[in-house]
Amino acid sequence: MSKTYALERQRAVYIGGVSGKRLCIPVDISLLEAAAQKRLSAEAWAYIAGGAGRERTMASNVSAFDRWAIVPRMLRDVEKRDISTTLFGRKIPAPFFLAPIGVLEMAHREADLAVARAAAATGVPFIFSNQASVPMEVCAAAMKQTPHFFQLYWSRSDELVAHFLERAKACGSAGIVVTLDTTMLGWRTRDLDLAFLPFLRGMGIAQYTSDPVFYRIMQEPDPSPAPKPRPSIEAIRVLIAANRRFPGSFWKNLRTGAGLRAVRTFVRIYSRPNITWQDLPVLRQYTDLPIILKGILHPDDARRALDYGVDGLYVSNHGGRQVDGAIAAIEALPAIAAAVQGKVPILVDSGVRGGADVFKALALGATAVGIGRPYCYALAVAGQIGVEELLLNWMADFELTMALAGCKNVEEVRQAPLLERKP
Ligand code: FNR
Ligand code: LAC
Repeated sequence: MSKTYALERQRAVYIGGVSGKRLCIPVDISLLEAAAQKRLSAEAWAYIAGGAGRERTMASNVSAFDRWAIVPRMLRDVEKRDISTTLFGRKIPAPFFLAPIGVLEMAHREADLAVARAAAATGVPFIFSNQASVPMEVCAAAMKQTPHFFQLYWSRSDELVAHFLERAKACGSAGIVVTLDTTMLGWRTRDLDLAFLPFLRGMGIAQYTSDPVFYRIMQEPDPSPAPKPRPSIEAIRVLIAANRRFPGSFWKNLRTGAGLRAVRTFVRIYSRPNITWQDLPVLRQYTDLPIILKGILHPDDARRALDYGVDGLYVSNHGGRQVDGAIAAIEALPAIAAAVQGKVPILVDSGVRGGADVFKALALGATAVGIGRPYCYALAVAGQIGVEELLLNWMADFELTMALAGCKNVEEVRQAPLLERKP
């Protein structure tokens, strides 16, 4: 029989309550956000919670879900329930996954590793970020049998791209997610107001500083050396931070200047804003893993991607961090699903905040749904166990929403008609 979560979860929570126990993270998403904000520095909060410009897209990612309503059906025997599904040929326990999020060390000391362990404990897939704080091999080992993917930012160095993809294959990735919407960072107002960018302090570059190709690039002469910052307490702090995070002895790094050189090299080669469709076949030469394009919002781009033979699409606006005023991801989904006609899996994220949103996304054509900021908040509040609890809560929430709407399994959710409200 398939595994169910909902009643067990409710029972565990309420019975715990009888002996005075509470979950270690709030179930309510607004309370979870508030609890995370309390734990985080102003800089970490701005970076994680913030979006581009006036943050209108960030807000509409969430509110756009209200455009569709679930219409529950009765008397359909939902005693036996199954929320499992498959993704790129792998069985997964629930139709969601952990989206790639960079610089998780800002949320919690154990960063990506805590998330990988929570993913492994629940079987929920995890997409490792190109800007992770822990190298992919370390997280892959913690994932055990649970599927993981590697998210790539297309670097100016093709050799580094090829090597990242080789490492992903070697550590057992189920696919490569190429993020197309962040060839440059968006105009992030909160970060700009605090004048804070984590990468300049050596955070979120662990995939690079664990890579021999990156080390070689670091030794090359810098074609446009960065101006030296004026000596100040803050500049010394940044110097210390960058060298502490760089692998090896802090004193040796300080002496050789490795930490700052790594940061400067990263900034120089991070991405290539001139990539076009014609570059895609190059990626195919570097890997035989499934290639999934993240950041697709227009059905014509979806059709074009199919022409180029990609294996999956990922509808997302990066959580409103890139183009303020852009279409909400869930609004973009129906036209893309119509264009794709089931030929490849469609992932979606941006604004997903609970089981009802997962239901709606599936009913609008998604194959699986990405959890983003909510797991960062759970990580900030309670580390690995916080993320684990969040995932179990979401499984229970989705299972109840599904069953109480009259669906026994994910296939039935995919067929469920939603009511579209007129604006
Ligand atoms: C992201 N996102 C992201 N995406 C990606 O492809 N690579 C990355 O390194 C990151 N880093 C990152 C950091 C932080 C702090 C956030 C909040 C987001 C985008 C992420 O994968 C996903 O698209 C959004 O988080 C979805 O929006 P919500 O649901 O979190 O609002
Ligand atoms: C961000 C990058 C890391 O959104 O994707 O901050």
